[in-house]
Amino acid sequence: MSRQAAGRAKRAGSPPSRSPARSPVQPPVAGLAGNLATEVQRWQRQHGRSHLPWVGEKDPYRVWLSEVMLQQTQVGTVLDYYRRFLERFPDVQALAAAPQADVLAAWSGLGYYSRARHLHRCAQQVVAEFGGRFPASSAALATLPGIGRSTAAAIAAFCFGERAAILDGNVKRVLTRALGFEADLAVAAAERELWARAEALLPARGIESYTQGLMDLGATVCLARQPLCDRCPLATQCVAHAEERPHDFPVKTRRLRRGHRDNVVLWLEHRGHWWLVRRPQTGVWAGLWCLPLLDDDEALAAGTEGWPGAGQALPTVQHALTHFDWTLRPIFWRWPTRAKAPGPERLGGLGAGRWFSREEALSAGLPTPMRRLFEAAVDVA
Ligand code: ADE
Repeated sequence: MSRQAAGRAKRAGSPPSRSPARSPVQPPVAGLAGNLATEVQRWQRQHGRSHLPWVGEKDPYRVWLSEVMLQQTQVGTVLDYYRRFLERFPDVQALAAAPQADVLAAWSGLGYYSRARHLHRCAQQVVAEFGGRFPASSAALATLPGIGRSTAAAIAAFCFGERAAILDGNVKRVLTRALGFEADLAVAAAERELWARAEALLPARGIESYTQGLMDLGATVCLARQPLCDRCPLATQCVAHAEERPHDFPVKTRRLRRGHRDNVVLWLEHRGHWWLVRRPQTGVWAGLWCLPLLDDDEALAAGTEGWPGAGQALPTVQHALTHFDWTLRPIFWRWPTRAKAPGPERLGGLGAGRWFSREEALSAGLPTPMRRLFEAAVDVA
């Protein structure tokens, strides 16, 4: 289906089997609400990021893809991935039919790989349950894998003109500051209250420019550390600005306690090939190809007992994930060239794996630190 056709596509779809509990959207109220929305819309038309490829897009496949990519990644990084991903998977059918390994490979480097696995499952569900057409309401969209309430609302607003409120991290910052919303968002009731406030602020018309305007304000003006209040269309009505305390918002007390992990990474090489193992389907880097990870030096000694040659320690890699910081200590081990390559009978204890050429490895779905190691590996291979 062409993009135009997709945009015009009948806004239908089976009703959701399970719709998230939420209050019905209130009609717009006069005063602050009307005013805030109007200012955001006017600002968006003049100063919003209209050059981005997904802005003004109506095809739900493309909007959905951009929203999922943008969930945890900056616009600058997403642009290239978005273009390449659409070349490789031009529509939801192509994505649904692709092997998971190809999807992960196209996502490789964007991080947060559960997004890619959900994306794939979502595409398969749209094809299997909705005839290849995304459902046309935020409530139905929110039943699909990887589509949370805010993402569902963004897709429904952009593609179907639904008056639905978004509330991602950036928008929480904009609204809590503008409203002087003091309640602690770590508390579920406060979060619900903010959703209700966000819904009450929705304009009667022009949900697209309002939604895009809130996103753009959060990303370019109402910044977390250095808000640019002198450029903000809401400055005259913003409570946080009037009280000169933008940094007090949003209030969220329960901060994530970060953990720390430490692993040995065994980089085994034989005649320019590397032994990679497939990560389990759950947990960190699920489904990606990875060098074998070992708990510590003892596990390394046990795993390599009787091997010819010796390991060589490479510089340590520090990697930050959402819940913990990870120290990865690569050990490069060259299996003698004259010897036959060891197979699964010898290496199976490291996990289910196989040998990869450098090129093959670089085009597989790899976690970012592995990709960095391999890209820098011209002299060790
Ligand atoms: N972040 C999330 N969605 C976005 C969008 N549509 N445009 C810009 N930034 C975004």
